[in-house]
Amino acid sequence: MTFDKTSALITGAVTVWSACALAAPAFARKATAGQKTTNDGIYSRAQADAAKAPYAKLCSECHAFTVAALKQPKDLPLGDEPFLKKWEGRALDELLTLIVTTMPNDGSAVVNDEEALNLLAYMLQQNGFAPGKAPLDKSGAAAVIARPTQK
Ligand code: HEC
Repeated sequence: MTFDKTSALITGAVTVWSACALAAPAFARKATAGQKTTNDGIYSRAQADAAKAPYAKLCSECHAFTVAALKQPKDLPLGDEPFLKKWEGRALDELLTLIVTTMPNDGSAVVNDEEALNLLAYMLQQNGFAPGKAPLDKSGAAAVIARPTQK
């Protein structure tokens, strides 16, 4: 094998390898076939409506749903571009765990799994995800966060 051929092979191999490395994270962010996303009607309207008051009491002080509606610039919106950019492609489970273990972060209350699932349903509703027939439960939280399609 001549030197030219060897280096062409190496260049080829490196190109393929870097293409895979670049493609992998993008691929990982897509839901795999059959996996539900937040666009698949994974909560019910009644569940979301019922969580409106608890959300207002426990969460709204620090979390609006758009950047424009934030009371303080340091607060994080639970919707809108920064939120979707950060959470797109991740499982709703992650948000569930975060809420149950760390929110509200001033220690003013404690939320259990069921309450957090209801709050998540309200968050999905406020973000423009269409509701379905059944309320969001723990198994439904395996769904992947996507960008809302109905907005
Ligand atoms: C006193 C203010 C405060 C309250 C009340 C509060 N949070 Fe938070 N929340 C924060 C802060 C600050 C963060 C940023 C991460 C951290 O410091 O823990 C955060 C982060 C989050 C995140 C992750 C956001 C992201 O983009 O990564 C979620 C989801 C969340 N909170 C949900 C809730 C829910 C649901 C409630 C009501 C049960 C709630 N929070 C109540 C202050 C608050």
